[in-house]
Amino acid sequence: MPKVYITRRERFNAAHKLWNPNWSEEKNFEVFGKCANVNWHGHNYELFVTVKGTPDPDTGCIIDLKLLSALINEHVIEHIDHRNINLDVPFMKGQMASTENLAVAIWGELEGVIREEGCTLHSIRVKETENNFAEYLGE
Ligand code: NI
Repeated sequence: MPKVYITRRERFNAAHKLWNPNWSEEKNFEVFGKCANVNWHGHNYELFVTVKGTPDPDTGCIIDLKLLSALINEHVIEHIDHRNINLDVPFMKGQMASTENLAVAIWGELEGVIREEGCTLHSIRVKETENNFAEYLGE
């Protein structure tokens, strides 16, 4: 049976800053540069959720993409879109608001609900800018 990977993209806008409260202001600016801007900055994020499986013989599909989109919106986008990642997002509480940590946290929000639909989450990719993205495969 062929194993196929299918990806749904969703988008969200959010503010954040990279700031370690255990460090001095100087060290934060030294390590994070503009990303430590005290009054925040924002990104137009893209989120790519990849599910793997064997196409169903009746539908030819691994998962209903409308359902996958609805799950991503309910469990991730509604909690992060137009929010401040450092302050407002429950699943990022107490964590550095980095792209890497976002990918891991979003995996945590989606892995179980996708499994409940009989599907397997393969990867979470969070694209912060044109040039930077993080990918998490659950390891
Ligand atoms: Ni940033």
